[in-house]
Amino acid sequence: MNGFPGLGGLRLVPDLRLLLILGVLPLALLLPACGGEGGGDGGNAAQPASSEGAPAAGDISAEQLEKGIGPVTSLELGPIDPELAARGEEVFRLKCSACHQLDDRYVGPPLRDVTDRRTPEFIMNMLLNSWEMTERHPTVRQLLAEYYTPMPDQDLSEADARAVLDYLRKVRTEGGGG
Ligand code: HEC
Repeated sequence: MNGFPGLGGLRLVPDLRLLLILGVLPLALLLPACGGEGGGDGGNAAQPASSEGAPAAGDISAEQLEKGIGPVTSLELGPIDPELAARGEEVFRLKCSACHQLDDRYVGPPLRDVTDRRTPEFIMNMLLNSWEMTERHPTVRQLLAEYYTPMPDQDLSEADARAVLDYLRKVRTEGGGG
């Protein structure tokens, strides 16, 4: 028998992370290049050099700038719900801690004070719509340029995302010696 069992055993396992990275890497490489000061006379005249140093906000609205891009457009927060926060902590441990720590830079940014930096809607949309946020939101594109890794979609339910949000609100009150 001359068959190569190895060939039959070939499995195509799409490595989503790899695909994401390959897909976005060119973007990440482009970002710093966009700020070039020397006009140069490079052959690629595709882009009119009209930006005046502003981040490329693309076509998103002021509201999207503040609240992010995704399913959550307005969110009313009551007091932190300890039960919800506890569930959020569990989700965080399972799905986020591989890349995020609270106080230190890791694969992604530290998150303890993220509720100061971003609106609740922004955070929710980051969790529920990471890919589009990374692709289109100028703030997240800057993060990408800084961290070189796109945050993959976490496949969270909105309820789980909401729980994580309360966890992040809770840790904000605990840390930082504030
Ligand atoms: C595979 C690694 C990875 C995982 C898993 C991951 N993140 Fe991220 N996250 C990143 C990276 C890298 C960035 C910054 C670049 C970007 O946004 O694409 C980021 C950005 C963020 C931001 C924006 C931070 C800011 O300063 O605005 C938030 C919020 C966030 N992540 C929360 C989470 C939460 C909550 C989870 C779990 C549900 C999670 N992430 C899972 C890698 C990850």
